Amino acid sequence: MKVTVAGTGYVGLVTGVCLAHIGHEVTCLDVVEEKIEMLKNGKSPIYEPDLEDLMLKNKDRLNFTTNYKKAYKDADVIFIGVGTPERIDGTANLDYVNEVARQISESIDKDTVVVIKSTVPIGTNDRIEEYLNGNIKNGIKVRVASNPEFLAEGTAVKDTLYASRIVIGTEDKIAEKVLKELYLPLTKKPYNVPLLSMDRRSAEMVKYASNDFLALKISYINEIANFCESVGANIKNVTLGMGYDPRIGNKFLNSGIGYGGSCFPKDTKALHWLSKSLDCELKTVKACIEVNKDQKLRLFHKLKNSLYLKDLEVAILGVTFKPNTDDLRDAPSIDNVELLLEYGANVTVYDPIGLDNFKKRFKDRVNYASSINEAIKDKEAVMIMTEWKEIKEYDLNNYVKYMNKANIFDGRNCYDLDDFKNIDAYYVSIGRKDVGSLK
Ligand code: UDX
Repeated sequence: MKVTVAGTGYVGLVTGVCLAHIGHEVTCLDVVEEKIEMLKNGKSPIYEPDLEDLMLKNKDRLNFTTNYKKAYKDADVIFIGVGTPERIDGTANLDYVNEVARQISESIDKDTVVVIKSTVPIGTNDRIEEYLNGNIKNGIKVRVASNPEFLAEGTAVKDTLYASRIVIGTEDKIAEKVLKELYLPLTKKPYNVPLLSMDRRSAEMVKYASNDFLALKISYINEIANFCESVGANIKNVTLGMGYDPRIGNKFLNSGIGYGGSCFPKDTKALHWLSKSLDCELKTVKACIEVNKDQKLRLFHKLKNSLYLKDLEVAILGVTFKPNTDDLRDAPSIDNVELLLEYGANVTVYDPIGLDNFKKRFKDRVNYASSINEAIKDKEAVMIMTEWKEIKEYDLNNYVKYMNKANIFDGRNCYDLDDFKNIDAYYVSIGRKDVGSLK
């Protein structure tokens, strides 16, 4: 099929490349010229494992353009995968989605299925369909379907090809048939992805309900971790014991300094706002947001309660909101570093992938290191913000060897408490007892 995907961010680009991989002719469209130039040269503007390989493999079925008229004109299916960022008041900003809809209405020449992949407030698909059919040439019909995306950054390609499920939301039989055909290669071997067909509003809701549930699970376990500190329990043992119950499961039970990223923070706030506006406030989601806000600074407060921050030499290990991505959106590192600087600490940061993005924001307000060894050298404290593999596997003896004072504040529980038996360091983590004494 001829497919056009609007937006070349995590959702749009990965969707486009994966659809090309399963045999479709795909045009990826973006308004940012530089991104399209990079893509034409085989380079992905986002760091995402496996994506460039797949772009190369399927280059004959992939086009990249900024020309929306051409891109939309004769597409069988148009995916909308543009961002729906959070407004200051927590509502979802639909400006990009609306602009794409306007451009589609100007451009199409035949019946088209428009699929909204972006996370949008409930009822947006209805509204966009109404808008499109009211603004296109007479005699043409647009069918709008919801098809939420469940990919996580860092595993986006795998999450798309071997998706946990494909959700299609449409009451229109033709749109349903087209999308079932489009996804046929994924619902068969070797992928065997389950495809669920439902009404549009439920499909829109599946996305919010799933993301908010996962965010809630994290906030819950973070609160339990904080409580473990008060009662002398170890959160790692507690979650180990909980995770064996199949009704709970052992995933998304890692306590730490809170969730960040492009989805959980904005989707919890958007759904909470929507629920309030409908006079049916989701109080659990409200609590989840509040807990996460506090949790992000929990490690900072532990550091501040232990050491005088003015002129303190601090290293930050990991700045991205999670490992295997260069994304800094809502990363706990941002608020923590801002606060450290406000209190007068000297900050050196290290991250295997995220430093370029971090530099755009912090410029020369912090120092940048090109390795863990370099970052922690002569420091009086280190804060671990992201559990990159190389940080988790780092030789603990090096903290003692390189740091001026080996005070380790671990916001991601990277190490076992027993690992510090023969290490002369002070180790503070989340939901567990501190080990050693302050240096
Ligand atoms: C998430 C959803 O997983 C995905 O299905 C949706 O489409 C988009 O949002 P993503 O934001 O890429 O994906 O990352 P995810 O792996 O879910 O992690 C989100 C945040 O939660 C990260 O900051 C991570 O550090 C944190 N997290 C995750 C925890 O603190 N503990 C956990 O146990 C799991």
